[in-house]
Amino acid sequence: MRSYLIAGNWKMNLGPSAAGTLIRSVRQGLDGLNLERVTVLVCPPFVSIAEAVFEAEDSALLVGAQNVHEKAEGAYTGEISAPMLADCGVSHAIVGHSERRQYFGETDAVIGSKAQALLASGLTPIICVGETIDERRAGREQDVVRTQLQGCLAGIDAEAAQNVVIAYEPVWAIGTGETATPQQAQDMHAFIRAELAALYSQPVATGMPILYGGSMKPDNAEELLACPDVDGGLIGGASLKADAFLNIVKTAVSQAS
Ligand code: PGA
Repeated sequence: MRSYLIAGNWKMNLGPSAAGTLIRSVRQGLDGLNLERVTVLVCPPFVSIAEAVFEAEDSALLVGAQNVHEKAEGAYTGEISAPMLADCGVSHAIVGHSERRQYFGETDAVIGSKAQALLASGLTPIICVGETIDERRAGREQDVVRTQLQGCLAGIDAEAAQNVVIAYEPVWAIGTGETATPQQAQDMHAFIRAELAALYSQPVATGMPILYGGSMKPDNAEELLACPDVDGGLIGGASLKADAFLNIVKTAVSQAS
């Protein structure tokens, strides 16, 4: 029996009013679905989190964040800490998204510190890894992803790793409409699983969800979620429309049963 995590990454979209509207629709669509083996999460911008948590109350829908600062508090103007997110009712946070690596210069070491800060507050980090198109063309995709995994997970022991989610997001597939083929996704997910087993142990690696992200949509979700090492999706564009997001959730529900 498979379990899935279907996570929406709203990126810099939807302020509190629009967030409330979307959450109400998603919540309604989840009614009556068998979510025993499917976890559904949305990650709004920080300013919409409180509204999202309010609208999702007493439903199966979880709310996450898209980033966090590695320190718990202090003179870091404009930043948000893991204890603050926990206080808001957040369960997960994305760290190391390629857009943060690219536009905000986040390194594996910083991403690892952010993941540790989340774990210390009882939150689940979703650590993103993935190669650029040039790296793939050069045949370096496995080396790149191995380096990212080792760097991000260096300070996380086997016990803590059981609360970590990995998201494989090939940079060339994010927001481009171009998706990894199921074979490309499965090959990389199996490679990531083997790397996690080498870092920790096979049982720990088996228990760590590995999500696929990069233009996942209703019409390709089925073949991607059918891959044995794909444990869910991190969905950008298609998570901004209730119907599209719910269709992906329903695909996971039918594959989990
Ligand atoms: P996309 O984004 O689904 O719009 O490609 C995925 C992501 O960046 O998390």
